[in-house]
Amino acid sequence: MINLILFGPPGSGKGTQASRLVEKYNLLHISTGDLFRYNMKNDTPLGLEAKSYIEKGELVPDSVTINMLKAKVDENPDVAGYIFDGFPRTTPQAEALDELLEPKGGVSSLLMLDVPEEELVGRLLERGKTSGRKDDLDESIIRNRQEVYRNETMPIFDYYFKKGVSTKIWGVGSLDKVFSRLCLELDAL
Ligand code: AP5
Ligand code: MG
Repeated sequence: MINLILFGPPGSGKGTQASRLVEKYNLLHISTGDLFRYNMKNDTPLGLEAKSYIEKGELVPDSVTINMLKAKVDENPDVAGYIFDGFPRTTPQAEALDELLEPKGGVSSLLMLDVPEEELVGRLLERGKTSGRKDDLDESIIRNRQEVYRNETMPIFDYYFKKGVSTKIWGVGSLDKVFSRLCLELDAL
């Protein structure tokens, strides 16, 4: 199994690259952000709970996020592997993922898309013109998401680095170039 964490700050290209990787490697793409947005669109209780955090650019509480992620993995046991996009974002989430994947061989690789902050803010402001995502509309919320990433999520890179599976990938350049850098790492697994 390939259990890949596609890691990186908001706007680094996780969603964009994940949709290409799932085709090439036949994996299941699980994006916690997409799952929350689906629930928000359908006004589910989970969506209502998540909304107040997401619109401020804060993290949704761990218990809610971990339960949602576990349910998604359990619904899809017979896949060749998973791409986790936007999860884990905190140490308790990483610990929960390790436990969940223990019978499935654990995390194979964490690939971090490395992109400078000014480029990220530019990308998200641009996307905000058409995405309909409230967290893309306001520069202060976009900057808050970057700060939350630095403070709460960045330590996850080291958490998996110590386990020997974290790698940084330069995330600037054409979509094709970034994709081939990712494939180079995955083909070596
Ligand atoms: P989430 O949906 O995960 O959003 P994010 O991390 O803010 O990241 P984005 O989806 O905005 O960016 P991306 O890296 O996927 O880049 P993309 O491919 O879209 O999370 C949203 C919220 O949900 C969080 O703030 C939090 O509240 C909550 N949440 C989610 N998971 C959670 C968790 N585990 N715990 C707690 N809360 C959680 O690309 C961005 C833009 O750049 C696009 O317009 C794209 O076209 C463009 N682009 C991509 N690649 C390139 C390139 N190479 N060159 C130029 N432009 C590019
Ligand atoms: Mg995304």
